[in-house]
Amino acid sequence: MHLKYFIRLIKENTILKQEITDILYDDSKNEELFKKADKLRKENVGDEVHLRGLIEFSNICKQQCKYCGLRSPNKNIQRYRILKDEILEYAKSAVDMGFKTIVLQSGEDEYYDVDRMTEIIKEIKKLDVALTLSIGEKTYDEYSEYKKAGADRYLLRIETTDENLYKKMHPNMSLDNRKRCLDDLKKLNYEVGTGCLVGLPEQSIESLADDILFFKEIDADMIGIGPFIPHPDTPLKDAFSDNFVLSLKVMALTRIILPDINIPATTAMETLNPNGRIIALNSGANVVMPNVTSKEYRKKYEIYPNKICTNEDPTRCNSCIRNKIKSIGRTISDSYGFRKKNI
Ligand code: 5AD
Ligand code: FES
Repeated sequence: MHLKYFIRLIKENTILKQEITDILYDDSKNEELFKKADKLRKENVGDEVHLRGLIEFSNICKQQCKYCGLRSPNKNIQRYRILKDEILEYAKSAVDMGFKTIVLQSGEDEYYDVDRMTEIIKEIKKLDVALTLSIGEKTYDEYSEYKKAGADRYLLRIETTDENLYKKMHPNMSLDNRKRCLDDLKKLNYEVGTGCLVGLPEQSIESLADDILFFKEIDADMIGIGPFIPHPDTPLKDAFSDNFVLSLKVMALTRIILPDINIPATTAMETLNPNGRIIALNSGANVVMPNVTSKEYRKKYEIYPNKICTNEDPTRCNSCIRNKIKSIGRTISDSYGFRKKNI
């Protein structure tokens, strides 16, 4: 199918799953796809790249996602928690380096209850930054408390919209509850980020098309797409992995279908390709989320193996990524980087 026709269908709101799967199956027009996504990125969100300072504050997790190195049955990992004062130190130094958004991410760690979490949120909000949470599935009331305390955004990837695959990948979890969470976050007026993994065992191209349509259906404000990378200490250690191009295609299609949203060039992409984030920034992405914690924690937040920058410190990552962004003629945003919705 021709891309121009595809884009017309999007404008007319008549895009069908078949059209998306056609593009995902056909690798002969990839360059055209990436260029189109890059053009739409430029027209809709401009040349600015938003940097979000990521604080991975706890790798303790009660869940057992089959693909994730932080899953609770994994005993080959040294667990850590960063407490409030230290989180604040990282946040402050990130702000000093020019970050306008802080992202607090962790496993599903119950130590951080509503009281502890709201205290941290309030302190960070005093620094005049936008604050994103990425701490998993919570109740409506918990999300509501965090919003009241000042959180602006929330990241919770749907991971996959394929009901069967979701069940297999997430023991004791349900796709319905995941959707309920995203729905609650929308109702509470968070900027909502979701996304999927690309290349999970038994994941079909058709289900990736469903994932993209789901992003559109819920009108997500941010979409993070990453290739699945097998982790040696998980049940999926022997799974096949060569998902870079496919994840880039899913990302580019997402830009075409939701042209005004924020899309990160994910760390997982750079793990599979040494130039992965720059390639992503040239194929529809407009956000990068460098880690702003010290290396003693980075190595331990091993969601997947060979994660980049685990030997670097925050100042080095900051200058490295800024230089890379400038080298492709893009600028660093000094705004909070909220979605500016096209009407
Ligand atoms: N490979 C790539 N991404 C992974 N994630 C978890 N495990 C892996 C893996 N093995 C992603 C999930 C999660 C995000 C924080 O990290 O999509 O939402
Ligand atoms: Fe960490 Fe380049 S972003 S060293």
